[in-house]
Amino acid sequence: MTQFEPARLARPSFLADSECNGGLPVFATVRDALNAYEGDDAFCILYPQAIAAAADQFLTGFPGQVLYAVKANPHPAVLQTLWAAGLRSFDVASIAEIDLILKVTPDAKMYLMHPVKSRETIRHAYRSGIRDFAFDCADELAKINEEISPLCQADEPPLRLHLRLALAAGEAKMPLAGKFGAQTQDAIDLLKAGAAAGVDLGVTFHVGSQCHQPDEYRRALAYVRGLVDAAGVELSSLDCGGGFPIAYPGMQPPPLDQYFSTIRQALTAYDFGHVESLGEPGRALCAAGGSTLVRVELRKGDDLYINDGIYGSLFDAGTFDWVFPVRLYRAAGDATICKQAPKSRGFRMLGPTCDSHDILRGPFQLPSDIAEGDWIEFGHNGAYGQALASRFNGFGPEAIFAIAESGFGER
Ligand SMILES: Cc1ncc(COP(=O)(O)O)c(C=O)c1O
Repeated sequence: MTQFEPARLARPSFLADSECNGGLPVFATVRDALNAYEGDDAFCILYPQAIAAAADQFLTGFPGQVLYAVKANPHPAVLQTLWAAGLRSFDVASIAEIDLILKVTPDAKMYLMHPVKSRETIRHAYRSGIRDFAFDCADELAKINEEISPLCQADEPPLRLHLRLALAAGEAKMPLAGKFGAQTQDAIDLLKAGAAAGVDLGVTFHVGSQCHQPDEYRRALAYVRGLVDAAGVELSSLDCGGGFPIAYPGMQPPPLDQYFSTIRQALTAYDFGHVESLGEPGRALCAAGGSTLVRVELRKGDDLYINDGIYGSLFDAGTFDWVFPVRLYRAAGDATICKQAPKSRGFRMLGPTCDSHDILRGPFQLPSDIAEGDWIEFGHNGAYGQALASRFNGFGPEAIFAIAESGFGER
């Protein structure tokens, strides 16, 4: 099962990889990966089984088309795993993401759901076969039309233009209400103008990432009903965005099925049963499918100095004070603390850079005798953390492996 390239593996600079090859070295267990690893830096792992299981849950439960938000983790192994699980649609935002999908899953359907795009991105998207574009104001709509009209052949399938709505900031742990979206009157005017111009119209919204209230999707759909009635238009699609949560320690969101049934019921209740519905999960598809392994370089009381931090793959843990599930691997031997843990206590972790923001307050519960040289697995870090990792100050995850076990929570 185990195959290891002794040479240094490329760090996960996903979009820059010329070889878009998801064929990562595979280890049976995290311990096997640790035993084989010769690098000095932190490293990332993926649990393809966990990603496939999350995809299956969405594909069987979500009432509509499932688009993976590529930004959450663009590693080719993630994209290939989702494709193999049956997911066929991807939400992209940039030329690099479009090219990545063309290379890794060329038969996929792409949707360009970023509300503000460069003209070059619009042209590139259209030439790459994308026919679904988001916008949130008249100027962006005009920009899309100006760029695509000269490229458009008479027999081409029509564009579908998705109006991004602004929603009031809700209960999501990571609100996304500050930047994009048309407010109520503008939305009504844009819907009317779009319908008058014969545009194939969709609506899209995002309730905020890691949303703990399924009812926020119902409220958003009720709001869309009001807008559509006020504008007197018909929609061809309704995109419920992302926001689906996972259970980080200390957070107990309702199960995903509750979100799916709330959305299903609301689509019927607000008379959208005949409209194509879409969802754009990112976090919920890949968070549980990835971890970061960090090493303790020094202990000072309850402070652990580790070799990754907020400028590496642990952005959320430091920036939003989210507590990620952690597990310790001893420097030597093959027993994890789960089997023989002395009393645990709460630790703060300090990232490797010189920056004082590079601190993860936690507290992270770990065995009280943790020491220099021990490794810590940060679980549920497959979404955003891995994608955001930089090499600031020369630190950051150096390699990425696949683990055959079913996921962090399964031992
Ligand atoms: C347009 C869009 N769609 C989908 C997502 C994915 O959201 P989440 O990871 O919360 O599911 C995002 C995240 O920022 C987004 O901006």
